[in-house]
Amino acid sequence: MAYSEKVKDHYTNPRNVGEIENASGVGTVGNAKCGDIMRMYLDIDDKTHIIKDCKFKTFGCGAAVATSSMATEMVKGKTIEEALKVTNKAVMEALDGLPPIKVHCSLLAEEAIHAALWDYAEKHNIKIEGLKKPVNDIEELEEDEF
Ligand code: FES
Repeated sequence: MAYSEKVKDHYTNPRNVGEIENASGVGTVGNAKCGDIMRMYLDIDDKTHIIKDCKFKTFGCGAAVATSSMATEMVKGKTIEEALKVTNKAVMEALDGLPPIKVHCSLLAEEAIHAALWDYAEKHNIKIEGLKKPVNDIEELEEDEF
């Protein structure tokens, strides 16, 4: 299966690459299958719980870049609760699919968003209904290692 036009577009022209200074939540996850790494930054309004901004950095493959780019576009403007529904499946659908061998790459984006939300919840001492700490969370990774 070839890559869809949307995957190619988000890979060659990824949206929301970078960092957010003083982000509300930061999550870093690793992909156990290939060793690639993804870090997600969220800027969340403390009153409304709306995600005002979302950026990512990755040492990941093209499919990971494309799914993260699309995922950041999909969670921006959503509440935390709505963002939890942006699963890797939803992101893949929005990209018109991925080759089966690349499906695991799409998990990086979902897990990184969950890790960033987990970080936000911990910092604010709140519980986000339905959110579990991602198993591939690698929070001990130092900023200068990435
Ligand atoms: Fe590692 Fe795609 S091969 S994220």
